[in-house]
Amino acid sequence: MKILLTGGAGYIGSHTTVALLTAGYNVVVLDDFSNSSPEAVRRMEKLTGKAISLYEANAADKAKVFEILKREMPESIIHFAGLKAVGESVEKPVEYYRNNIDTTLTLLECMRDLGLSRFVFSSSATVYGEAHTPPFTEEMTKGSCTNPYGWTKWIQEQILADAQEASEKGLISGWKTPLSVVMLRYFNPVGSHESGLIGEDPQGIPNNLMPFISQVAVGMRDKLIVFGDDYDTPDGTCRRDYIHVMDLAEGHVKAAEYAAAHEGIEVFNLGSGKPYSVLEMVEAFSKACGHDIAYEIGARRAGDIQDSWANAEKAKRLLGWEAKRGIEEICHDAWKWQSQNPNGYGE
Ligand code: WQD
Repeated sequence: MKILLTGGAGYIGSHTTVALLTAGYNVVVLDDFSNSSPEAVRRMEKLTGKAISLYEANAADKAKVFEILKREMPESIIHFAGLKAVGESVEKPVEYYRNNIDTTLTLLECMRDLGLSRFVFSSSATVYGEAHTPPFTEEMTKGSCTNPYGWTKWIQEQILADAQEASEKGLISGWKTPLSVVMLRYFNPVGSHESGLIGEDPQGIPNNLMPFISQVAVGMRDKLIVFGDDYDTPDGTCRRDYIHVMDLAEGHVKAAEYAAAHEGIEVFNLGSGKPYSVLEMVEAFSKACGHDIAYEIGARRAGDIQDSWANAEKAKRLLGWEAKRGIEEICHDAWKWQSQNPNGYGE
């Protein structure tokens, strides 16, 4: 099976590319390198010993996307490409809505016109918003998001559900074949491939906890600011469901296989189901790197929810997938990547 990945050189896309190649699939990567590096593609080829067909293009560039899809005619598309910085989305909402929603609409139009039918979507647990208490299950209604980035995921899920329903109606709606859609709601992806060859390479000051801790550990930053210790949790800091990026990548292999075998639409949580607090993550990372991580307690960060973790039973039941790698492996692999590549893919 040939699978095309938009954003296939990015953090989750690159790990999924490796998992798909390892499982024997043929991979085509489409990426505009706006937040990724061609070096990641070279490393993926080195790691797997396999060739990747690479197209430099923005997933919202309809003329280019149409040509690429027409030439490759992939059996499945996995759509990762998108802007993903929560804070930036508050400053640039129009750019976030334009870019993220455009990519999905563009892909759907091209798929409809070319008769392509399988789509795996990179969604986020952020769609649960603040409306529920964890563990989050897929049948909970989507909540109210706390930032434009989250709303773009929420809206893209809605677009996919409506397009899938219309595709069932056949020629009247312009679809030659019913769509098979799998939407994956990620919790907090962290860690890197065990080789230390590929990993997360944030531009500028990291927004997320794990890359920030990693940069403190390697000496690039003085200390971590812990955003609040007055939450109603055992140690006062927020709890999250941190999932090893290779577990997540393997979840995409299962999702692509599921989409190939079933028509219709399904949504799955991809998480470990286990919450860890910010201070527990700091502690686990300091064990992995062998020294203390300097931190200071700061104010709460606007928009943070206290608790978020998955009920991942549905993925286990229908995809035969569950997270296998624990917190020690996460920190070990994150440290390996960071210590071997202190400047990411740059020199
Ligand atoms: C985790 C915890 C922070 C940084 C976000 C997006 C989500 C998804 C993943 C994807 C929180 C605390 C963090 C720091 C800290 N997006 N923290 N000091 O906010 O759960 O999820 O990333 O593309 O949609 O919302 O992840 O890693 O930013 O934070 O104390 O310097 O670490 O308050 O409790 P979050 P995170």
